[in-house]
Amino acid sequence: MHDAGKRLVKNSSGPLMSEVKSIAQLGDLPKGLSFFDPILHHEAKEALEADGEVYVHESPEGLKNGLFIYDGYEASGTIFTKSKEVFDHFYPLKPSSYIFSEYEAAEHPKEIWNIWQLDVDKAPLNHRFKHDVSMNHNVEEIERFMTLTQPETNRKWISVALRNGEKCFVVRIANKIVGMAWMTIVDGMARSHGLYVEPQFRRMGIMRDNLQARLIYLKSRHVHTLINEISESNTASSSHASKAGEKIVGKVFLYTTGP
Ligand SMILES: CC(C)(COP(=O)(O)OP(=O)(O)OC[C@H]1O[C@@H](n2cnc3c(N)ncnc32)[C@H](O)[C@@H]1OP(=O)(O)O)[C@@H](O)C(=O)NCCC(=O)NCCS
Repeated sequence: MHDAGKRLVKNSSGPLMSEVKSIAQLGDLPKGLSFFDPILHHEAKEALEADGEVYVHESPEGLKNGLFIYDGYEASGTIFTKSKEVFDHFYPLKPSSYIFSEYEAAEHPKEIWNIWQLDVDKAPLNHRFKHDVSMNHNVEEIERFMTLTQPETNRKWISVALRNGEKCFVVRIANKIVGMAWMTIVDGMARSHGLYVEPQFRRMGIMRDNLQARLIYLKSRHVHTLINEISESNTASSSHASKAGEKIVGKVFLYTTGP
């Protein structure tokens, strides 16, 4: 019935925005939508499997020139486009939400996030670990930790992420998770996200150990680039990235849509 997706907007000049209901329906995405091009397909697939929403915008010529991935549980999403017109189409779709985009819209208030990048091949391997870091596949245990520490996370996403090959690196103290970082890996690119250390265990080198473990893993998989986004106002995380040798290579803006 809805083989071409749920049509939402079709104006006289032809641009078209549609909701994508399955990853097969999304098809290939062109290069150049975003810095995150290599992982967009993966992100869209996870969103759909975790009950999120995915929208595509096409030019009158039928070229995909925008992608919007949204999670209703988290009331947050990301608009991937270079076009003002496309951004302006997607933006009002989700009121009272956190919307990330590399598109800089002058008219909306925003928070600046930096995209940090690390050259994995250049990272030294002479680190001395103070804590044990391991990869965790235990959905219930991860869920317990994230519910307490990052309650805004869509819980359904955890099993979806593990099924889709995301890696969850944890540090335990007295057999209890005290620090966690996720990593998405697609081809030669990895993206870290969801970094968190329990407040009472901060500044003890836990995230530094966690990062080193991720780097060893990435080297073994011949992944060359690790990226992650950090709010400009997050001094702890920014100095952690800087100290690890990461460099700022781009920006993402976080908008809060009105009611
Ligand atoms: C950011 C965070 C993960 C760091 O974890 P951590 O285990 O405390 O970090 P480490 O002890 O490994 O610190 C490594 C380096 O990072 C920097 N750093 C960490 N916390 C810092 C702080 N509060 N202020 C300044 N620099 C800090 C330092 O350079 C530190 O090295 P040093 O202690 O030898 O000076 C932790 O503060 C946290 O969970 N914060 C809340 C969640 C968050 O902001 N996550 C990141 C989202 S992008």
